[in-house]
Amino acid sequence: MAMDAHLLEFLGLLLRWLHVIAGIAWIGSSFYFIWLDNSLEPPPPGSEAAKKGVAGELWAVHGGGFYNPQKYAVAPAALPEKLHWFKWEAYTTWLSGTALLVVVYWLRAQVMMVEPSLMALTPWQAVGVGFASMVGSWIVYDGLCRSPLGKNDALLGAVIFALMTALAWGLGRVFGGRAMFIHVGTSIGTIMVANVAMIIIPGQRRMVEAMRAGRAPDAMDGKRAKQRSVHNNYFTLPVLFIMISNHYASTFAHRHAWAILTLMAAAGVSIRHFFNRRHKGVLEWRYPAMGAVLLAAVAWWTVPRLPPLPRVEGPVTLDQVRAIVGQRCVTCHSPVPTFQGLTQPPAGVVLTTADAINQNSQRIFQQVVATRTMPLANATQMTDMERAIIARWVADSGRAK
Ligand code: HEC
Repeated sequence: MAMDAHLLEFLGLLLRWLHVIAGIAWIGSSFYFIWLDNSLEPPPPGSEAAKKGVAGELWAVHGGGFYNPQKYAVAPAALPEKLHWFKWEAYTTWLSGTALLVVVYWLRAQVMMVEPSLMALTPWQAVGVGFASMVGSWIVYDGLCRSPLGKNDALLGAVIFALMTALAWGLGRVFGGRAMFIHVGTSIGTIMVANVAMIIIPGQRRMVEAMRAGRAPDAMDGKRAKQRSVHNNYFTLPVLFIMISNHYASTFAHRHAWAILTLMAAAGVSIRHFFNRRHKGVLEWRYPAMGAVLLAAVAWWTVPRLPPLPRVEGPVTLDQVRAIVGQRCVTCHSPVPTFQGLTQPPAGVVLTTADAINQNSQRIFQQVVATRTMPLANATQMTDMERAIIARWVADSGRAK
């Protein structure tokens, strides 16, 4: 059993590692091509390149070599034998990310997703909601892009942003903050990879087929791919924030976690927009300034403001603390947890002995008093008085600030 749990955790480690590597490859190439596109300059009229149908080109030096990429208006007159495609970076990122979602969240839905104080879902219902949010997001998004709204880039962007905000708000009524964050992230990730798999790559394939058959490729395929690729570019900063956010309880455990997520996403989009404009040689400082204002607002809004705990008179003994921890924590934090869905002590924290409690006093204080994130979703109904007793004990034994 312990072995199974260990293997599952190790699988999680490998998936996370792969996910980060593939994500770097995908987003790295995506950033590179956006930069490339925005930096191209038309060749001089009448030049060799212009005659070949080159719409833009540039010179770059990297790794000790000189590069001269050229972009054709639609396509070159004849296709080369060998053509590089960029798709496995995207597919691998999504596949590893989804597998990680299953291992970390879906297989432990009772602990990681269900928030009984919001909605008493069964684990399967929680997984169903998570899955539906990912598939549903793509269907709605794709429909919008194909609708007449798809012709107005700015309005389309605003509507997509508003709908993602609504998704965060809606999932926040169902799941705990952390599960809400990750499912908004996987919904965005699903849109991004579906853009590659269902729009960009098939469009490119049609263009290549048309040319191989001696027909002119449909310029609409290129246009549509470009639009989706620009969307993906703006999605990257928000989705990367979500990937690292699980380290920051002050964001996902906030009372208005959906609003925090929205502000962070808006900051990311704004900063990304600045860079996209800058590649075109336009410096618009109002965008990073807006990003900075939004980030400062989040920093201020996430300052912990917990209601005060009751007063505890007199000294507190370790035995009192042990009794509380025994009642409120060890269903999860023991070598073999009895809490449904757990197969090993979460975060490796075991609190069954006096030594362990002493050793972890600082972390316990952090979780139980400072942020009140433990017991998770207060599953064991810890009282404020018990938190106060722990606060007093840590303060007295001089181990906490
Ligand atoms: C319902 C199960 C559950 C209960 C009950 C519970 N925890 Fe946790 N605890 C978790 C989970 C899950 C994590 C891992 C969270 C993560 O991975 O970010 C965790 C993590 C922790 C951590 C490590 C956090 C860190 O990163 O430093 C500490 C410390 C902790 N819990 C203390 C407690 C204490 C003290 C209690 C009792 C007052 C308690 N927990 C009750 C599920 C629980």
